[in-house]
Amino acid sequence: MAKRTVVTMPGDGIGKPVLEEALRVLDAVGFEADYVHADIGWEYWINEGNALPDRTIELLEKHRLGLFGAITSKPKDKAAAELAPELRDKGHVYYSPIVGMRQHFNLDVCLRPCRSFKGNPLNFIRQSKDGGFEEPMVDVAIFRQNTEGLYAGVEWTDPPPNVRAALGTHKKFARFADVPGEELAVSTRIFTRNACRRICEEAFKHAKKFGYKSVTVCEKPNVIRETSGMMEFEAAKVAEKYPDIDLWSTNIDAQMMWLTKNPEDYGVIVAGNMFGDIVSDGFAGLVGGLGFANSANVGADCAVFEPTHGSAPKYEKLDPPIVNPIAMILSACMLLDHVDESEKATAIRDAIAKVIADGKTRSYDVMKLRGGPDAISQGAATTTQVTDAVIGNI
Ligand code: NAI
Ligand code: MG
Repeated sequence: MAKRTVVTMPGDGIGKPVLEEALRVLDAVGFEADYVHADIGWEYWINEGNALPDRTIELLEKHRLGLFGAITSKPKDKAAAELAPELRDKGHVYYSPIVGMRQHFNLDVCLRPCRSFKGNPLNFIRQSKDGGFEEPMVDVAIFRQNTEGLYAGVEWTDPPPNVRAALGTHKKFARFADVPGEELAVSTRIFTRNACRRICEEAFKHAKKFGYKSVTVCEKPNVIRETSGMMEFEAAKVAEKYPDIDLWSTNIDAQMMWLTKNPEDYGVIVAGNMFGDIVSDGFAGLVGGLGFANSANVGADCAVFEPTHGSAPKYEKLDPPIVNPIAMILSACMLLDHVDESEKATAIRDAIAKVIADGKTRSYDVMKLRGGPDAISQGAATTTQVTDAVIGNI
């Protein structure tokens, strides 16, 4: 097989150490690849006015395979205030580079698996009928539409007159018609049928391939009739091709309640961009939280893999780093699955399972300690020690 080139984008804060650790694990499992570094994140915003420089886009355009750590992102005004003085007032507007990357490469399918590891003290438990407790194993795959909806960026504070006029054609806009411009903010939720169909098709394909019994659409069609309604409609159409897989539908709010009641009942979940983001964080919280949350952003001809956590600025200056590298390592496993190296991915996941079950090497989050410089003296393993333990079990 031809050697692959992976574009590595460490980004900011803890993105840097965790990405380095994932590369060590990929080496240890015998994955043969060349890695090229690409710039992304806050320092490129400050110094170049662009957190996702063109040279990074070009590298991804060439190699079509990326491994991404995390970036720091800040609201518009704060971002503008930190821009290098010589770049100010030149029309630079801050956009999240990861959102930009998803849109530029149409990485429209986001997969976020949430699976418990046996022996993880962070696993969800609930009270059983006899007053004891039980620990249901969760195994859910969340498919999040990744490029549209509320994240598409079509939004205004003080919408221009033609936009106001267009909104005015909707009878339900009447009660906002007299709100002064600066008092009015509008963020649009745009869904396309193609994108709905594609995310639903990927969800069902995954369910079939891995033997999940159900696909649950998690939207809110009773209120958000047009967009959520379109997602539900497309899911039902795709479901016709999969008579052996049940199609369920839940509202996002109800789902957030149910997920701590009977999370083991869910298999594949499919949702639009915002609700997919919400429900995936909800499930991630049942299986260890951000230190375990991994994800894939997949388009027709490009894919980028990343932990769902951010740059954790609180911990970025700690030396040695103490954050959990497992979310990043599991994201690298998803890259391996994507390039048909699933045996290697399984070897790494099994090694992680052993480290967790063994319980001797635990980062501060798994030990339920407060993160900080004292964590190590209280028995927490460093980022590197956790990685070493994983490598030792491969
Ligand atoms: P965060 O995910 O960076 O951190 C929140 C908290 O979660 C941390 O303080 C820490 O307690 C815990 N945590 C995160 N990753 C961990 C790990 N690997 N091991 C152990 N504990 C971990 O989210 P926060 O603080 O809301 O955002 C910080 C920055 O990251 C912001 O600028 C935000 O915009 C950005 N961000 C970037 C993302 C990305 O790059 N995809 C995603 C989420 C946030
Ligand atoms: Mg999120």
